Amino acid sequence: MKKVIIVISICTAMLIVAYLQFKNNTAHEDPRGNLYVGSKACAKCHNKLYNSYLHTAHYIASIPADENTVHGSFAKGFNVFSINGSQKVVMERSRKGLFQTYYLDGKIKDRHRFDIVFGGIKGESYLYWKGNELYQLPLSYFSRQHQWSTSPGYGFSFVDYRSIGIRCLECHTSYINELPKEKEELTGNEQFDKSTLVYGIDCERCHGPGAQHVDFHTSNPGVKRARYITSFASLSRGQKMDMCAVCHSGIHTALVRSTFGFMPGDTFAKFKLPEFQQSIDTGHLDVHGKQLQLLQSSKCYIKSNMDCSTCHDTHQNTRGNDILYTTKCLNCHNAPNHTYCKMTDKLSVEALKTNCISCHMPELTTKIISVKVSDKTPAVRFFVHTHHIAIYPQEVKKILAYINK
Ligand code: HEC
Ligand code: HEC
Ligand code: HEC
Ligand code: HEC
Ligand code: HEC
Ligand code: HEC
Ligand code: HEC
Repeated sequence: MKKVIIVISICTAMLIVAYLQFKNNTAHEDPRGNLYVGSKACAKCHNKLYNSYLHTAHYIASIPADENTVHGSFAKGFNVFSINGSQKVVMERSRKGLFQTYYLDGKIKDRHRFDIVFGGIKGESYLYWKGNELYQLPLSYFSRQHQWSTSPGYGFSFVDYRSIGIRCLECHTSYINELPKEKEELTGNEQFDKSTLVYGIDCERCHGPGAQHVDFHTSNPGVKRARYITSFASLSRGQKMDMCAVCHSGIHTALVRSTFGFMPGDTFAKFKLPEFQQSIDTGHLDVHGKQLQLLQSSKCYIKSNMDCSTCHDTHQNTRGNDILYTTKCLNCHNAPNHTYCKMTDKLSVEALKTNCISCHMPELTTKIISVKVSDKTPAVRFFVHTHHIAIYPQEVKKILAYINK
């Protein structure tokens, strides 16, 4: 009898150990494989940096939709978007979530849930799941006007929904697994494994897989020099620029490999088909992120060794902090070997400093993104700061008129 009890206890103990090990392993599981740990694991040692990162645009590049992340109003009177006398889209809440309902002659034609939010700075767009496929909801939210608007690309007679392919996700999420092509045959649209979605642009999307780094520093708390993680300081200027170019050099790139596989230190040219050397129209921005080409066309870039991090700390939200950006300009333009603004004798130091960006990196309209907020008004365009740093006489006139008022 005693023997049986001992055997049973040993077996139970072994089962418990096996279970705990299994549990430990799955707790670390990241859809990208076991070289990855997810951003939360970085917070343990890089706590301050992690907390400030939570306020950045990269964190909300994609995020689950809920009451806090969908910014448009669901209040009566603000939740109806009329297309014409017979068609409207109404934003509705229910216990099952937030919905866009499409009415034709007072009857429900279609109803889809807000599942994923893209953005939240200038505007936000929403996606919903239909089986393994993703679609964009017809209405987006336009922050500048605090209004529901048509999603870019949707006209005023929309009824069909735009399917979302891997390309959007490569720039707005950190990972999703695309299902084999055979599955696409039914609708012709790309299919995804929902459970593998890693939201936002996370730490490891820019820094590469971090599991080894985390394991090493957890077991060696005395070591203060980073191991098993690429140091940006060790990269060439081209490699640093490429890390941002992956998502900030326009949407019309023909890829030969998914950018989900891009690691710091890689060369972006190896991921895409050769492109024609197009001249960029710096007066009318063709932006959905062409910051790379615009910056590269600027004298500041050509005649210095600057990169994106010269002005941006990607772990912090510095949006709208013109004074901070001015200090970046002055780091170079106050130095004896660099010219300072020729307007120095015409403007007070205060006026100069608060308007550096407005005169030399003004907000211009993008050519490709426009949305409608009502059927009666013309389409409104998105504004973005140009990264072609130069002299814009038209903008200068506006600013001078404003300053001298
Ligand atoms: C157990 C502690 C620990 C964890 C967890 C941790 N790190 Fe680190 N990390 C360090 C230490 C120590 C350094 C070196 C000192 C410093 O730069 O802060 C470092 C430095 C770095 C550096 C700078 C490398 C360089 O040389 O420029 C990067 C980038 C980095 N970590 C990224 C990450 C990412 C991404 C994660 C999450 C996947 C992460 N770390 C999680 C301890 C940790
Ligand atoms: C090549 C990378 C890339 C692709 C592809 C891409 N985006 Fe973007 N998207 C960006 C970048 C970068 C920004 C921020 C641009 C800026 O402010 O100039 C952005 C901005 C946005 C914004 C505005 C966010 C805000 O906070 O104001 C929305 C909405 C958006 N994208 C939706 C989409 C959708 C939907 C698709 C697919 C149809 C898509 N994007 C494809 C890179 C991309
Ligand atoms: C995997 C894609 C991806 C990579 C890599 C990436 N970005 Fe972005 N970035 C985005 C998207 C998408 C947005 C818009 C997100 C939004 O508005 O929610 C964005 C927004 C930004 C913004 C606007 C911030 C704001 O508050 O308006 C800056 C600045 C920026 N990125 C700089 C960088 C720099 C610098 C790098 C390289 C170190 C970089 N990004 C790498 C996708 C990326
Ligand atoms: C959009 C890309 C991007 C994202 C997202 C990102 N980083 Fe970084 N990180 C960089 C770049 C670029 C540098 C180098 C900055 C420089 O050259 O000054 C850097 C530097 C660092 C450093 C070393 C220098 C420092 O500022 O302390 C650490 C540590 C670090 N990152 C950790 C993280 C962690 C943790 C996260 C997630 C919470 C994260 N990063 C998210 C691009 C990114
Ligand atoms: C890393 C150093 C550096 C930084 C930072 C920098 N610049 Fe420059 N910039 C230069 C250099 C070098 C030139 C070439 C002329 C010279 O030597 O002064 C230049 C040229 C210019 C010109 C003349 C452009 C033309 O086409 O004639 C303007 C305007 C200018 N910068 C404005 C700015 C503003 C505004 C900022 C901040 C947003 C800024 N710069 C940040 C280095 C820099
Ligand atoms: C000389 C300084 C400087 C450099 C270098 C620079 N930026 Fe910017 N960037 C700015 C300023 C200033 C703004 C406007 C910020 C604001 O109003 O909040 C900005 C805004 C942005 C935005 C938001 C667009 C918008 O209009 O809201 C993105 C995205 C961005 N930068 C990406 C990049 C990328 C990617 C690089 C490298 C290719 C880069 N930046 C290099 C100064 C710079
Ligand atoms: C009211 C608009 C305005 C503001 C504000 C302004 N600039 Fe200028 N800047 C100009 C104009 C216009 C010129 C060209 C003047 C000329 O060629 O006679 C210029 C010229 C320059 C040049 C080129 C000088 C050269 O010799 O070619 C630099 C560099 C420059 N500005 C930097 C700055 C910096 C840095 C700031 C912020 C501290 C700033 N500017 C603020 C309008 C402005």
